[in-house]
Amino acid sequence: MIIAIDGTLASGKGTIARRLSDLFALPHMDTGRLYRATGVAAMNADADLTDAAAIAEIASRLEPSLFTEAELRTAEAGLAASKVAVLPEVRAALLELQRNFAHQPTGAILDGRDIGTVVCPEADVKLWIDADVEVRARRRHAELEAAGDTISLEDLTAQLRERDERDRNRKDAPMVAAADAILIDTTDLTIDAAVNKARAAVEKANSRT
Ligand code: DC
Repeated sequence: MIIAIDGTLASGKGTIARRLSDLFALPHMDTGRLYRATGVAAMNADADLTDAAAIAEIASRLEPSLFTEAELRTAEAGLAASKVAVLPEVRAALLELQRNFAHQPTGAILDGRDIGTVVCPEADVKLWIDADVEVRARRRHAELEAAGDTISLEDLTAQLRERDERDRNRKDAPMVAAADAILIDTTDLTIDAAVNKARAAVEKANSRT
């Protein structure tokens, strides 16, 4: 079984993906991590984040496991990720890695922006997770603050809007719900309630096969 989980930044999709991974004993790939690692590697190499050929080269040689969570979770890494994610050459360089992961014998859960539309359009279950931007900004702000990042809530909200815009409006694989995705709005949901909805959707899909 392949489960595709897409949605906006800080909507809860990562947490839902990890919880479903435990519940259904399926391996999980956070595909945003690949774009973050590419962005950080590009910054470390002082590369121009708009130079498609140079960044695609970095993406094709990427060793995601070499990056620590601390360096990938900063607001700066997220911003760099959304910039390199615009480049079709970079997306192409990261595609095989994601598809290979999805097609392992156990099945898999992948979360990102284009899993249900581009990476795994054949996924058995597609979820689209979203929430109001102010709620998402508050959640991410609390996370970043706990990790020692000092960005203000105001700046973070502006950054979130900017990244949403860029993710939605890019030409290649824009962030959009697949036509057959099940929508879960987490604005007024606790994480447990959101996970329960996601779990019910997976169980329903399972019972149909
Ligand atoms: O989910 P995240 O914040 O870790 O993602 C970081 C950036 O990577 C995000 O701005 C968009 C991009 N991304 C993407 O374009 N496609 C994916 N499948 C996952 C992430």
